[in-house]
Amino acid sequence: MKEANQRKVLVTGGAGFLGSHLCERLLGEGQDVVCVDNFYTGSKKNILHLLGNRFFELLRHDITFPLYVEVDEIYNLACPAAPIHYQNDPVQTTKVNVHGSINMLGLAKRLRATILQASTSEVYGNPSIHPQIESYVGSVNPIGPRACYDEGKRCAETLFFDYHRQHKLRIKVARIFNTYGPRMHPNDGRVVSNFIVQALRGDPITIYGNGNQTRSFCYVDDLIEGLIRLMNSPDDLSGPVNLGNPEEINILELANKIVTLTHSRSEVIFRPLPKDDPKQRRPDITLAKERLGWSPRISLEEGLEKTIAYFDSLLRG
Ligand SMILES: NC(=O)c1ccc[n+]([C@@H]2O[C@H](COP(=O)([O-])OP(=O)(O)OC[C@H]3O[C@@H](n4cnc5c(N)ncnc54)[C@H](O)[C@@H]3O)[C@@H](O)[C@H]2O)c1
Repeated sequence: MKEANQRKVLVTGGAGFLGSHLCERLLGEGQDVVCVDNFYTGSKKNILHLLGNRFFELLRHDITFPLYVEVDEIYNLACPAAPIHYQNDPVQTTKVNVHGSINMLGLAKRLRATILQASTSEVYGNPSIHPQIESYVGSVNPIGPRACYDEGKRCAETLFFDYHRQHKLRIKVARIFNTYGPRMHPNDGRVVSNFIVQALRGDPITIYGNGNQTRSFCYVDDLIEGLIRLMNSPDDLSGPVNLGNPEEINILELANKIVTLTHSRSEVIFRPLPKDDPKQRRPDITLAKERLGWSPRISLEEGLEKTIAYFDSLLRG
């Protein structure tokens, strides 16, 4: 039975990096959480500590197939996020974004539930404006190797807004920028996890390109706070809303910072830049500040220290 004021919340992709933190946070707030995952990139290890909680339920399910559960809110996070993962089976990546979104939107429509989509800064592609603001429509190559993800997420946004216009569904679309923290996959090729693992192992740190390309990194706890605020925002705010850290750092500086924080002896080596890799990425978070009262609180040093501690124990264990 539900407790007073408790909401039943579905988190798809709940055993992944962001999803597991979101489930943890929702349970901490007293919500009743249904975590759905097919374990494509997620892991039971990420949610083992939640399995004993009587308000946590785990369903092994692929969201490209219809799902029938009763919930009040849906966070749709299911989708591999790292390029090596989403390029491994690009057709499935498009399917999870298109068929998966249709299934979750259909569920939300039947239940009159609010649904939040974990969209991405990748919808901006290789941007011609900097920093990126929500009204920028993006510059995406529709036939490149990243298109299954970028165009998949763009189509998911289209579906969300069409369900909103056509069926008056309450939707929330978050455009998430690079996020890092404990429970990132150690071999996902993403820059923060890559550099930390290489530094801890004393292996050379691989930079693709000359290291002048910039990124901005948001610590996972800040991002989760933003998602929850967006879900709880007034009905007139559908988004899209950028969520990320506007503090910019170039990749070479990041590598050096990680070498210092890990007390590593790793050297930095340079490799050719992969196709369609964006040169610059930084969110304009004015909308999130104004409408959600949200901005990141955790500094890069603090976040890196927590993430390094996680990978250190993972590699030792
Ligand atoms: N981490 C970031 O920096 C970032 C940035 C932008 C957007 N996002 C988005 O946030 C979401 C979560 O990303 P993450 O970093 O936690 O990635 P992740 O790969 O760790 O998590 C994705 C989860 O979805 C699950 N999944 C994949 N396909 C599924 C399917 N068909 N049915 C059910 N479950 C499925 C995976 O097993 C995994 O647990 C993704 O939608 C991603 O696109 C993440």
